[in-house]
Amino acid sequence: MSKPHPIIIDTDPGQDDAVAILLALASPEFEVLGITAVAGNVPLALTELNARKICELAGRSDIKVYSGAIRPMVRSLVTAEEVHGKTGLDGPVLPDPVMPLQTQHAVDFLVDTFMSHPAGTITLCTLGPLTNVALALVREPRIASRIKQIVAMGGGYFEQGNVTPSAEFNIYVDPHAARIVFEAGIPLTLIPLDCTHQALTTASRVEAFRAMPNASGPAVAAMLDFFERFDENKYGTDGGPLHDPCVIAWLLKPSLFTGRLVNVSVECESELTMGATVVDWWGVTKRPRNATVVRSIDAEAFFNLLIDRIAKLP
Ligand code: BDR
Ligand code: CA
Repeated sequence: MSKPHPIIIDTDPGQDDAVAILLALASPEFEVLGITAVAGNVPLALTELNARKICELAGRSDIKVYSGAIRPMVRSLVTAEEVHGKTGLDGPVLPDPVMPLQTQHAVDFLVDTFMSHPAGTITLCTLGPLTNVALALVREPRIASRIKQIVAMGGGYFEQGNVTPSAEFNIYVDPHAARIVFEAGIPLTLIPLDCTHQALTTASRVEAFRAMPNASGPAVAAMLDFFERFDENKYGTDGGPLHDPCVIAWLLKPSLFTGRLVNVSVECESELTMGATVVDWWGVTKRPRNATVVRSIDAEAFFNLLIDRIAKLP
């Protein structure tokens, strides 16, 4: 096999973040250089703790976890306990982690890592608000030309929003950070609700995790049992959208997805539509094409991949 692809995961776990981290750790195609936690679904003290719990669940206490921004750049933190529960990871009972939190700040880790590795080699996977990434870009703008690509879960256009009528959670929480990242000239793939709303945790898919003879499979099932109830009630579907693992799956098997290179701009001025991702799908402006916006996923193949990989974990 060729050399593993180095990635960094910036995240706010979150059950779907947790499944994304597990998918990455179960995939020999990747070398996970570090996990950077950000405030989002729950406050920072919980997201960094949850990230370490997940590494230990995967038997990977060697992974370096860094703590990052405690709040968005300009606005106050908005969290989503109604979706993820009080801990952010409600569902399974996972032990408190033994592995340490790194002492370096996540933003310093991002800057140092991108500056010290060859340009164009490391992919940044973002699963939460973009605060850490924007702060790193402000601190050291030269990293922009050194990041191979960013694959980000965020935004929504045809599906509109999930936290307001027009905004998706990750972008809404820190729209100013998203604007900085989207305008940085870094190759960007955006996985919005338009894609993730097709990846539903149906009962039969969740049962496949529960039936696994390892610890990770039943833990994933317990996470999804808790996580999906909010969106099932909202959308009236069998299962809820499994957003963040789509980022890792896109890197593993891009052929499961379709998308289009377009301009995406972020609304940061209007309170009514704050955090909306304005996607120029039809190319009606002269704004630069700064993101490949993913529009569809082969959900069956995506869950088969996920089930196959999670089954390989402890
Ligand atoms: C995104 O918001 C969070 O609640 C999820 O973890 C995901 O990253 C979906 O809008
Ligand atoms: Ca997330």
